[in-house]
Amino acid sequence: MSSVVLENVSKYYDQVAAVDALNLDVRAGEFITLLGPSGCGKTTTLRMIAGFVEPSRGRVHIANEDVTRLPPQQRTIGMVFQDYALFPHLTIGENIGFGLVERKVARDQIAARVEELLALIRLPEVAGRFPSELSGGQQQRVALARAIAFPPKVLLMDEPLGALDLKLREAMQLELRLIQQKLKITTVYVTHDQTEAMTMSDRIAVMNAGRIEQLDDPPGIYNAPRTRFVANFVGKVNFLPGRLIEHCGEQSAVETRVARILGPRLSAANPGAAVTVAVRPEKLRLLPEAAADAGMNVVAGQIETQTFAGNLYHDLVRTADGSSLLVEIRPFERIGGPGERVRVCWSVGDTVILDDA
Ligand SMILES: Nc1ncnc2c1ncn2[C@@H]1O[C@H](COP(=O)(O)OP(=O)(O)OP(=O)(O)O)[C@@H](O)[C@H]1O
Ligand SMILES: [Mg+2]
Repeated sequence: MSSVVLENVSKYYDQVAAVDALNLDVRAGEFITLLGPSGCGKTTTLRMIAGFVEPSRGRVHIANEDVTRLPPQQRTIGMVFQDYALFPHLTIGENIGFGLVERKVARDQIAARVEELLALIRLPEVAGRFPSELSGGQQQRVALARAIAFPPKVLLMDEPLGALDLKLREAMQLELRLIQQKLKITTVYVTHDQTEAMTMSDRIAVMNAGRIEQLDDPPGIYNAPRTRFVANFVGKVNFLPGRLIEHCGEQSAVETRVARILGPRLSAANPGAAVTVAVRPEKLRLLPEAAADAGMNVVAGQIETQTFAGNLYHDLVRTADGSSLLVEIRPFERIGGPGERVRVCWSVGDTVILDDA
């Protein structure tokens, strides 16, 4: 069952596409995140679902209804923005009940609903306070309660935690996700923070220049990126440019400037094609120069720099062609410091081969 469907939706500003022929299918109860760099069209996409921006082309469906021409107030959506946007002159209780008053819900029902929502966001005592008397994180929980007071068909959130400090943001990520799962609210969430997207989402749509480059669950996005952009935007990554040599069974071989690398078969590319090997720093291991390698990819090099990050060391290993590999190792795996000759190894399964075409 689909709850939000974007069908070939575009938005042009002066001939420039802010959103470019985008398709998205959000399942009922699903938490989907639009993730991408500044200016890639996340907010524009969200505002088209909400009805604040009219698409130049394409159609928007919510709960099997074509809402492309419906104004926002007729779409039954809930929205939460980065700036809390609570009404400063209303109490917390009045803020949460605002949409219910507008919809002419009976007063005693509103009071009961407000109480229920305050319990849900774990702020039972604040109904009589004003927004200025709450912390940023508390105000954002109230904004969430207000957005879901009249149960929305879809909850839209645009960087709702962007103004909070890291610790509070992490706590709120968990809390928002728990509430969303408890109530099974279909949610479209916008962030440019990849960790936030990873922790909260059922699926992530990685956006680039008005388009979705990849839509997948978090492990799929992280472990099997399909483009350089996705690999690079989500997490850290090493790239080794090369040429596809041959397919052998379930594997493909790539000749790079530093070594011949094996990875999972990339059937889409033919031998001779320009490809890029991508491998994450934490998948790499360091072995002494003389150690044997059992069925691993191996690149020889020399530790250039080593920085200590508490739970990890970040080693930059210079390879024969003058480029470097970033390696993340845990302290007990450390085999030497700068100047040490090492071999960088990783398993074939942790290799991603990307088609440059
Ligand atoms: N009202 C507008 N008029 C003209 N151009 C606009 C307008 N709104 C957005 N744009 C342009 O459309 C593109 C996408 O903007 P959008 O706000 O959707 O990006 P975003 O992904 O939300 O970025 P951010 O992470 O910075 O919030 C940008 O290039 C932006 O400058
Ligand atoms: Mg935005």
